[in-house]
Amino acid sequence: MLMGFILSFVMLCCLCSLKGIHCMDNSTLRSLDDLFLEYAENSLPTRPRTGVLYNASLPQNFTDVKVSIIRLRRDSFWSKGANYSGFYMPPKIFSMPNFTRLDMVYSNLGNLSSYYYNVPNYTLVAPVVGFNAYGSRNSTGQIGNLTTPMTRLNLTLFGGPILVQFPDFSLPQNGKAKCAVFHLNGTVEMTNMTLQNMCIVQDQGHFSIVVPQPPPVPWAPKKKKEREELWKWWVFGFAIGVLGLLLCGFIIFMIVRVFRMRKIEKMEKEAEKNEPLDATNVGQSRMPLASAVRTQPIIENDYHP
Ligand SMILES: *[C@@H]1O[C@H](CO)[C@@H](O)[C@H](O)[C@H]1NC(C)=O
Ligand SMILES: *[C@@H]1O[C@H](CO)[C@@H](O)[C@H](O)[C@H]1NC(C)=O
Ligand SMILES: *[C@@H]1O[C@H](CO)[C@@H](O)[C@H](O)[C@H]1NC(C)=O
Ligand SMILES: *[C@@H]1O[C@H](CO)[C@@H](O)[C@H](O)[C@H]1NC(C)=O
Ligand SMILES: *[C@@H]1O[C@H](CO)[C@@H](O)[C@H](O)[C@H]1NC(C)=O
Ligand SMILES: *[C@@H]1O[C@H](CO)[C@@H](O)[C@H](O)[C@H]1NC(C)=O
Ligand SMILES: *[C@@H]1O[C@H](CO)[C@@H](O)[C@H](O)[C@H]1NC(C)=O
Ligand SMILES: *[C@@H]1O[C@H](CO)[C@@H](O)[C@H](O)[C@H]1NC(C)=O
Ligand SMILES: *[C@@H]1O[C@H](CO)[C@@H](O)[C@H](O)[C@H]1NC(C)=O
Ligand SMILES: *[C@@H]1O[C@H](CO)[C@@H](O)[C@H](O)[C@H]1NC(C)=O
Ligand SMILES: *[C@@H]1O[C@H](CO)[C@@H](O)[C@H](O)[C@H]1NC(C)=O
Ligand SMILES: *[C@@H]1O[C@H](CO)[C@@H](O)[C@H](O)[C@H]1NC(C)=O
Repeated sequence: MLMGFILSFVMLCCLCSLKGIHCMDNSTLRSLDDLFLEYAENSLPTRPRTGVLYNASLPQNFTDVKVSIIRLRRDSFWSKGANYSGFYMPPKIFSMPNFTRLDMVYSNLGNLSSYYYNVPNYTLVAPVVGFNAYGSRNSTGQIGNLTTPMTRLNLTLFGGPILVQFPDFSLPQNGKAKCAVFHLNGTVEMTNMTLQNMCIVQDQGHFSIVVPQPPPVPWAPKKKKEREELWKWWVFGFAIGVLGLLLCGFIIFMIVRVFRMRKIEKMEKEAEKNEPLDATNVGQSRMPLASAVRTQPIIENDYHP
């Protein structure tokens, strides 16, 4: 019974902490990249032309998300770079492993940006855009066939950094905006913006622009949704508190009970050692029992008139 109590308590705590996590984990973001790649590859015609940007058609629930793909020859990518979809890639970008063609997949998360990415203490002011490079299927260097997974390429930049230009966003005038670089390993890096409101990046990944959030004012009027959240937390806290109290009470009760039992046992043992009286069982406890009155009471100071 005690175990059950503790178990449910621990489980509640787990549930509680799970609820606290609101951002997407790395694997979700990774599989989002994979999803975009799949839809982009399926949007390519059977004989795609190199150097032509193709838009991917995505499922209904990604209405505001834009994904496009371009197939490039490795040699021309090395000698001319690429300037598509807001990403300026200079010449002399080396890609490994050595595929003769590579597929560049660009994405713009639109109004789902803050659903997938949130930076603690910052607000996104531009959509999250990104790109990933893969070795093309049906090109020399490809080991498998159409069912084998695509190979993500490692890029090494020998000709300077990549510049990212953001579509449709308005920069706040306080000049505190920063570039946010979301690395593939789940870490976020903040960098300065260029004078042309672009971001300088060194590798493939996802990027956005953030401004610092003002520190929260305690007890300031909250938005309705936040209030609801808060209310939920209060209920949660209360439930946990009550459970905790019950648990405490139960434990104290058990301890007191064990102590009392020990005491009674000890007393019984003492009693058994030098038992001058007969004992009888009354209920669960042993009670001394005198079979007869041993000394007849004699009235002292007998008054004899
Ligand atoms: C691809 O999408 C962009 C923006 O949504 C649009 O401007 C462009 O015309 C589209 N290209 C094609 C080939 O449909
Ligand atoms: C959209 O639907 C796909 C499955 O069709 C699902 O994997 C994805 O998580 C959904 N995205 C959103 C934002 O609901
Ligand atoms: C994003 O915008 C589309 C229309 O462009 C809308 O249907 C969808 O509900 C929006 N999603 C969110 C999460 O705001
Ligand atoms: C890249 O293309 C954009 C237009 O798509 C153009 O405005 C910009 O000047 C180009 N950048 C370079 C370095 O050529
Ligand atoms: C790409 O880089 C990662 C880590 O930076 C490394 O583990 C991997 O072996 C590299 N792949 C190739 C083909 O160079
Ligand atoms: C990559 O392949 C091309 C042609 O297939 C070749 O010219 C080049 O030397 C190769 N590079 C490396 C590093 O293997
Ligand atoms: C966010 O700000 C709060 C207080 O301003 C601070 O305690 C917290 O550590 C910050 N979080 C991060 C991830 O920087
Ligand atoms: C693969 O490439 C060959 C020529 O290099 C071409 O004939 C064939 O159609 C291509 N297949 C696909 C699926 O692109
Ligand atoms: C594709 O490759 C996988 C193993 O990499 C193999 O099992 C499968 O039969 C191949 N499919 C075709 C159509 O060649
Ligand atoms: C994540 O990747 C970036 C760049 O690749 C690197 O600078 C950073 O140290 C990595 N962080 C962790 C925790 O691996
Ligand atoms: C997930 O991202 C966090 C940082 O947000 C990082 O510390 C952790 O190592 C990442 N996990 C994996 C499996 O990449
Ligand atoms: C970023 O900008 C701030 C001023 O806005 C400056 O103090 C800082 O040195 C800059 N950092 C880099 C790496 O240029």
